[in-house]
Amino acid sequence: MKKFTSVSDVENLQEIIKKALQIKENPLSETGKGKGKTIGLVFLNSSLRTRLSSQIAAQNLGLNVLTLNAAQEAWNLEFADGAVMNGDTVEHIKDAIEVLNQYCDIIAVRCFAGMKSKEDDVNESILSQFEQHAKVPVISLESATCHPLQSLADCITITENWKEERKPKVVLTWAPHIKPIAHAVGNSFAEWMQEMDVDFVITNPEGYDLDKNFTKDVKVIHDQDEALKDADFIYVKNWSSFDEYAAMPEVKENWMLTNEKLENTNQAKVMHCLPVRRNVELSDEVMDGENSIIYQQAKNRIFSAQAVFSEILDEIN
Ligand code: CP
Repeated sequence: MKKFTSVSDVENLQEIIKKALQIKENPLSETGKGKGKTIGLVFLNSSLRTRLSSQIAAQNLGLNVLTLNAAQEAWNLEFADGAVMNGDTVEHIKDAIEVLNQYCDIIAVRCFAGMKSKEDDVNESILSQFEQHAKVPVISLESATCHPLQSLADCITITENWKEERKPKVVLTWAPHIKPIAHAVGNSFAEWMQEMDVDFVITNPEGYDLDKNFTKDVKVIHDQDEALKDADFIYVKNWSSFDEYAAMPEVKENWMLTNEKLENTNQAKVMHCLPVRRNVELSDEVMDGENSIIYQQAKNRIFSAQAVFSEILDEIN
């Protein structure tokens, strides 16, 4: 694997899921593989799970880990090409990446959607600069449009929880939120589910359809009750409008996932990438109930990251 920024970087999804599950059985099985190599984890946005799971995964492989919380600890970055830097920005992203090239064998970066310019976000204005200027493999720790390490962990979690012969029904359901949220997790989950052997549907209110570039021919149902019927897995996530970019069109029905809504399902397992707004996106009873596999999903972030770092090390070792 030369880089990891979307599902298209994975040659064989079932193979990498299998590898991640083997790593979960024996996390120190490749303990010397990263010896003498350094991974830089660059966070332009907040994180709990991605930061810590990536650190654990890298340490399990014997990698040196540099973590830069760039928004808090580094110089104020300039992203615009040709900018006259006589204002608040102190260091150009091109220079920062060139310096990271001197220190790191792998660069991983978190760069959320700015949610101001649809064009900038759909074109990955920040991740693309890392891909352009990095001389070492680049890994996305969540970008403007995708969260591939999360999606791989989601695939691992579904695989672990499905033992029947038939395909599971997986439903990605929109959930309420108090502010506009980016589309990366929803896009990514939609993209990766299309590579899995599952029956996949998306449910969201009118006005909240995700980008067709990611959902392609996946069925979108605007009635949540209808979509949840007989579900085996329910993935709860909020996102803002894509068409009316970053807006929050009014939603009259109650889309929060509750135990009552689970009654119509096939005792569906409930998933969420976290962090979650309890009693807004889903109820306490769902979060803390026996159907929730949300913490298992969070744990699998370690093995998702470790499988990817290991494949990247195969390339550079
Ligand atoms: N799910 C996820 O990416 O969590 P963090 O934002 O805390 O890293």
